[in-house]
Amino acid sequence: MELIVCKTYEEVSQVSAKVVAEVMKAKPNAVLGLATGSTPEGMYAELVKMNKAGEIDFSDITTVNLDEYYPISPENDQSYRYFMNKNLFDHVNIDKSRTNVPNGAAPDGEAEAKRYEAFVRSLGGADIQVLGIGRNGHIAFNEPDEELVPETHVTGLTEDTIDANARFFASAADVPTKALTMGMGTILSAKKIIIIATGAGKHAALSQLLKGTVTTKCPASFLNLHNNVVVVCDEAAYNG
Ligand code: F6R
Repeated sequence: MELIVCKTYEEVSQVSAKVVAEVMKAKPNAVLGLATGSTPEGMYAELVKMNKAGEIDFSDITTVNLDEYYPISPENDQSYRYFMNKNLFDHVNIDKSRTNVPNGAAPDGEAEAKRYEAFVRSLGGADIQVLGIGRNGHIAFNEPDEELVPETHVTGLTEDTIDANARFFASAADVPTKALTMGMGTILSAKKIIIIATGAGKHAALSQLLKGTVTTKCPASFLNLHNNVVVVCDEAAYNG
């Protein structure tokens, strides 16, 4: 596991964008696994800048996002599809038909989870998967539990996650209580993984990951089973 500790959020964003850009340059038709949340917003802004400057090309890129609320319409401004359009897809030369987010409007969530899993597997997994980390160590919507699920599935959200996401909704009561999420195996099928953590609130989860052991109480710790992981964090997340 490679660890890069940066001074500022800006530096975290630049370094992370560079890691993703390297994969895109080496493989112009790469599959990018993407995450939402506040942490990667700066990284997406950097990727947009690099695309506008002609440094990176999205024309042959395919994307697969980690997760989506369920149920939610893609037009809802709190949906992860909306977030991705707003933060990245609307500003780069990507073919939108090759951008994939689990369909929060699918009538049958379980069937959608199966379809999405088969689709990601048919691509051979992501060439690079971008991850954030929850305060409780979750990755995507894989929450700490006695057992974790390998494949894309429908899951209930924990109180902690509903609280953390409530800032994006009018109130905690408006946060959807379920999500479609890649499972641990779907995530680990990526050839390379970059996990980004900023702010002191992420210190406990990051420390558990960096400890090097594996526990279902911290889903991010499963990245210790993967042989190509880059951790990019700021000093606040690293030192607490
Ligand atoms: C987002 C996702 C989540 C976030 C995590 C951290 O697609 O899967 O697991 O990565 O909740 O969110 P932020 O970056 O908002 O702290």
